[in-house]
Amino acid sequence: MVQRRLPRPSELAPLLRPAPFVRDATARRLRRAASVADLRLIARRRTPRAVFDYCDGAADGEQSLRRARAAFARVEFQPSVLHDVSTIDTSRDILGKRAALPFAFAPTGFTRMMQTEGERAVASVAQEVGVPHTLSTMGTTTIEDLAASAPDARLWFQLYLWRDRSFGKDLVQRAAAAGYDTLMLTVDTPSGGARLRDVRNGLAIPPALTLKTFVDGAMHPNWWFDLLTTEPLTFATLAAGGTPEEMINRVFDPALTMADVEWLRDTWPGKLVIKGVQSVDDALRVVDAGADGVLLSNHGGRQLDRAPVPLELVEPTVQALGGRAEVLVDTGITNGGDIVAAVALGASAALVGRAYLYGLMAGGRAGVAKVAEILRADVVRTLQLLGVTSVDELGPQHVRLR
Ligand SMILES: Cc1cc2nc3c(=O)[nH]c(=O)nc-3n(C[C@H](O)[C@H](O)[C@H](O)COP(=O)(O)O)c2cc1C
Repeated sequence: MVQRRLPRPSELAPLLRPAPFVRDATARRLRRAASVADLRLIARRRTPRAVFDYCDGAADGEQSLRRARAAFARVEFQPSVLHDVSTIDTSRDILGKRAALPFAFAPTGFTRMMQTEGERAVASVAQEVGVPHTLSTMGTTTIEDLAASAPDARLWFQLYLWRDRSFGKDLVQRAAAAGYDTLMLTVDTPSGGARLRDVRNGLAIPPALTLKTFVDGAMHPNWWFDLLTTEPLTFATLAAGGTPEEMINRVFDPALTMADVEWLRDTWPGKLVIKGVQSVDDALRVVDAGADGVLLSNHGGRQLDRAPVPLELVEPTVQALGGRAEVLVDTGITNGGDIVAAVALGASAALVGRAYLYGLMAGGRAGVAKVAEILRADVVRTLQLLGVTSVDELGPQHVRLR
């Protein structure tokens, strides 16, 4: 039998420690988020349904995304104990330059639609943290404005080649002139993916003011207030509107071939990465055509559904390329342990897309910074628990896919 008694006031006093009041509402909101998944939930509450779904959703049955995430869940780390892991080096060479962490921010279109601080917030965090940020051709901030807003950030430019090649050439020249050091050509969009959530939600870009959106405005007043009281939401490089699928189909070229990769190689002076490679054979072909890196990706599951799982392609691609080019990977990364696993399998770095967008929707720049901090802490902790002192030490001996 447990003997009960009344607690003494002197015992209660030290337990009464109310959390200090945080004046800033955003900081208050972000304070308790412990993971990217937590930030996603905050993002969902704060953002109109159609906008959140545009970001969160994928194509068709969303199997590509689900399977990519499931592959990260299949990772089994192989730790080794009794090593001095008091100091951890998280830095990594990515495409010829040292980054503070083994990841970069992936290109996302319409970023200011998620939250109006948009690309500038992401580039500013990239600059502070020391990782690259990629601006999309579908971005909502111009090439030059973004570079000016984060002059010390390492910026990459993601290119969609348009039917009119002269337009692509112009963008490439502008990116080079503005100091972007890497060009990422996306090749998995010969046609727009069937994003069923967008169809059902009637998503138009920019969002249309209809009765439905008006009612939504009452539920997400902050989002609408931001949208209507900051610079207009426009496509910085793309003078078009409509549904995302319509825009892709109108502007992007289904006749893109390897000859275009060769042409870009001759046009672009910096590093060239091909994004959306989904087989070892294609990786070999694009590297033969002059690419410095391949990004194994199925576009976050937003294009072909039931596509190959990028994480599973890392090891065979690294082996086949034999050091001739770097292998990067994205799709489905939700924590720093995922990034460690990708590097251990041979990737030079991973890219994250939705993870930082959830942070952006949850709290603007502060939310993106929170995501970067969560990922950094995850990477450090995972290395320590693996018994490894630096990212560069990671190898296939540290991980297997169950
Ligand atoms: C809202 C959104 C917009 C995107 N826009 C682009 C784009 O304009 N160009 C591009 O190459 N990839 C784009 N992507 C794909 C990302 O670059 C990246 O491949 C993908 O998000 C990685 O998967 P993850 O979101 O699971 O990290 C977009 C992804 C999202 C979620």
